[in-house]
Amino acid sequence: MSHSDPADVTIIEVSGAATDPEGRARFEEWVEVFHRVQRADTGSSDAWSAEELRTVLDNPIKFFVDLAAVTADGQVVGAAELIFQREDNTHLVILNIGVLPAFRRRGIGRRLIEEVERVTREHGRRTIITETIWSGDEGAADVSGEFARRLGFEDVQTSRRSDLDVTTVAIDPDIPTGYAIETHVGTPPQADADDRAWLLRRMSTDAPLGGLDMEEQQWDAARIRSADERMERMGRGRVSAFARHLESGRLVAFTEIQVPAASPDLAYQQDTLVLREHRGHGLGLALKAANIAVLRDAYPGVERVRTWNALENSHMLAVNDALGCTTSGFEREWQKQL
Ligand SMILES: CC(C)(COP(=O)(O)OP(=O)(O)OC[C@H]1O[C@@H](n2cnc3c(N)ncnc32)[C@H](O)[C@@H]1OP(=O)(O)O)[C@@H](O)C(=O)NCCC(=O)NCCS
Repeated sequence: MSHSDPADVTIIEVSGAATDPEGRARFEEWVEVFHRVQRADTGSSDAWSAEELRTVLDNPIKFFVDLAAVTADGQVVGAAELIFQREDNTHLVILNIGVLPAFRRRGIGRRLIEEVERVTREHGRRTIITETIWSGDEGAADVSGEFARRLGFEDVQTSRRSDLDVTTVAIDPDIPTGYAIETHVGTPPQADADDRAWLLRRMSTDAPLGGLDMEEQQWDAARIRSADERMERMGRGRVSAFARHLESGRLVAFTEIQVPAASPDLAYQQDTLVLREHRGHGLGLALKAANIAVLRDAYPGVERVRTWNALENSHMLAVNDALGCTTSGFEREWQKQL
């Protein structure tokens, strides 16, 4: 197909908040586009379920605009999700976009991007950040990257996707002197909310950002509580490990893994951070190993943990390699300044 045979689609807005049967079905079809695109392009899908997306709608610090490309006979064949932060990073929008393989190269992606740019401008934002993903080893090609480039996006960071077979992890590293490791199943204690907020603030700037035009996230204890409550409503399993610096009594490092209800065998590594002043003692490896041990006890159905790390994040990649992670694909961040 070429532009001489453009697809006859209409771009409409859908919403997870819809309560009427037609609106609910349309939202589910829209969610399914992301799953079908990922399964087609990488063999599996890490996209969120409709239920999870509905739960996060009730979020004081974010809002969403969901666009669907619908054919004349009513089929949703393309999808774009725009995620806007309200308290920080109010200059940008995070975009997820996909077109079903059978409908590509007919201008639908371009139509969606044009609408995305209109909505982005309408909200007074200047930066669009999106990503492409692909599976395979170092030599595999980022096929959709060409789309991003042609539409004026710039390649700002590439990450490795790694999978860890939790059944074979067999390491028991020493805990560095001067620290205690504390692990939790489910929501971590609210007594630590201030320290956790500080760790998440640091996380937003201290992990490598490549060329991403992102600023510090404004975490505080109230935002931590609200995020914890949302996670509970989502029904995600959660294990975390923290390092407490014994001299100061403060939490100085953390790592977290989540288990979506829809994929009880595949868990997802979330943030891991050791504050700069406490790096170089092996806390990262000790924390991750402790967290995997808790995960195995609490969620015996989990077989693999999946994680993404920027290629320049050599310390984190070294920790993951030491645990036994193997490369399962790649992800690239693309950015456009309007
Ligand atoms: C990327 C994606 C959304 C493009 O959707 P699409 O409807 O095929 O895009 P369009 O037809 O509007 O393409 C617009 C232009 O992008 C370029 N392009 C799109 N796909 C391309 C590819 N695979 N290789 C080379 N160029 C490509 C072309 O210049 C195309 O114009 P042309 O058809 O006149 O040559 C789709 O391939 C997809 O869903 N990929 C997986 C999800 C993804 O990577 N999303 C993030 C994208 S930044």
